[in-house]
Amino acid sequence: MAKPLRIALAGLGTVGAGVIRLIETNASLIARRAGRTIEITAVSARDRHKDRGIDLSGYAWEDDMTAMAARDDVDAVVELVGGADGPALTLARNAIAHGKSLVTANKAMIAHHGLELAALSEQARVALKFEAAVAGGIPVIKGLREGAAANAIERLYGILNGTCNFILSTMEDTGRDFADVLAEAQAKGYAEADPGFDIEGTDAAHKLAILSAIAFGTRIDFASVETAGIARILAADIAQADALGYVIRLIGIAETDAADGTNRLFQRVQPYLVPFDHPLAHVDGATNAVVAEGNFSGRLLFQGAGAGDGPTASAVVADLIDIARGDLGGEAGAPFSIQVAEMEAMPPAPSGHRLGRAYIRFVVADRPGVLAEITAAMRDAGVSIESLIQKGRAETEGDVLVVMVTHEGPESGVREALRLLDGSASLKEAPLVMQILGD
Ligand code: NAP
Ligand code: HSE
Repeated sequence: MAKPLRIALAGLGTVGAGVIRLIETNASLIARRAGRTIEITAVSARDRHKDRGIDLSGYAWEDDMTAMAARDDVDAVVELVGGADGPALTLARNAIAHGKSLVTANKAMIAHHGLELAALSEQARVALKFEAAVAGGIPVIKGLREGAAANAIERLYGILNGTCNFILSTMEDTGRDFADVLAEAQAKGYAEADPGFDIEGTDAAHKLAILSAIAFGTRIDFASVETAGIARILAADIAQADALGYVIRLIGIAETDAADGTNRLFQRVQPYLVPFDHPLAHVDGATNAVVAEGNFSGRLLFQGAGAGDGPTASAVVADLIDIARGDLGGEAGAPFSIQVAEMEAMPPAPSGHRLGRAYIRFVVADRPGVLAEITAAMRDAGVSIESLIQKGRAETEGDVLVVMVTHEGPESGVREALRLLDGSASLKEAPLVMQILGD
C-alpha cells in the first residue's frame, strides 16, 4: 500500500470531532477505498483542555493552527474552524502556499474568498475541496462538478439550510415556538456559531453562491443574492399556509435570465410557500434537497442530511479520499469545475419582472376601512387578489392578521402596492411577503 495521506485538522468542534470519529471508526474501509491510510498528524483548536469525548493523545497539538501549514509531516490541511476571514483564511492561504491540499467545510470563507483560493490552488497544483460546505452530507458539489459536468444548468433551487428547515418543519409539526426549536437545533450541532447566519438566510446564500459558480460557470457573486430569513415567520403564518395547502420552507433559487437580452444570473434565498404536492414540501428536519435542471440530464434531485457531525464529516472525508487517490487538482482539477480564469462574471438579474403568486401577511389595526385601504392599494398597483382572509386576533392586543394570496403577476406589482401602503397608520408592522413556489 502507498504511503499514508498525513493530515492536520484545525477545529475540533461538531464537525472536527466528527471527522476524527469517522476516520478512526472506518479506518480500514477508507484505506481500502483510498488505496492508502489517512493518518491524522496534528490537531488544533482554541482550548487544549476541553473534553471533546475523543482521545487526542496520539496527535500533535498546535496552539497556533496557522503553523500547521508549514509542518513537514502534513500533506493536506483540513480547516473546520469557520469564519469568512481571520485564522481560517490565514490557514487556508498558508496551506496552499506550502503546497498542501486544503479541505474545508467553511461556506462563508468559500463564498467570500473561494475564487482567490481556487486560483492559488490551481497555480500550486494542489487540491481545494469543499464538499462539506454545501448541503452537509449530500455529494451535490461532486454531482454538479462531475456527474452533471456535460450539462448546461438552467435552474438550480432547493433547501440549503438544515437549521431553518428543522425550525420550520418542527414548528409545523409540533406548534412549538421559534426560540425553543432554534435552541434544539443548536444543541444538535446544526446551527452556525452565530445562528443569525442561519435564520437570516446568510448561510443558505453562501451555499447558493457557491453552487451557482459551479452550476453556471460564473464568478461567485454572494453580494447579489437577494436574501431574507425566517425570523419574522409566525406560528400563525405556518397555520395559515397549511390551511391554504402549503408548507413554508427557506428556499434558495438561482437561474439564468436573459429577459433584457443580456445573460444575467438571478439568485435569491427567501422563505417560500411550497405546495403540499411539491417534492420539497416533504423535506423535513435538518434535511437538505437540491434540484438542478440540466439541458440533457433533465431534473436531478439531491437529498439527504444537510447538517450535523456525521453527515458533514462524511463529506469532509470523501474529499480526503479523493486526495489520497491522487485527485490533487492542477489544470484538470479546477475546484469550481472551470478554471478561475475561464469563469464569467454574470451581471445580477433584477426580480421585478418575475411572474409569480405571493402570500402577503399584514398585521393591521382592527377597525373599519382597513381592508378597503389594502385592497385599494392592490387595485392601484394592478395586483389581482386570489384570496383574502382576516382571521382571529394577532399576537398583539387589538391588532389582527390579514392574509392575502395574489394571482400570478409581476413581483414589481406587489412591491408597488406595499409602497403605496408604506407609512399607513393602519399597518402595525411591515407586511411579510413570501412567494409561492411554482413547478
Ligand atoms: P464549532 O462546533 O463551533 O467548532 C469550531 C471549532 O473551531 C472549535 O473546535 C473551536 O475551538 C475552533 N476555533 C474557533 N475559533 C478558533 C480560533 N480563533 N483559533 C483556533 N480554533 C478556533 O463549529 P462546527 O459546527 O464544527 O463548524 C465548523 C465549520 O464547518 C464551519 O465553517 C461551519 O460553517 C462548517 N459546517 C458546519 C456544519 C454543521 O452541521 N455544524 C455543517 C457543514 C459545515 P474550541 O473547541 O476550543 O472552542
Ligand atoms: N448551519 C448549517 C445549516 C450547517 O444549518 O445548514 C450546515 O451547513
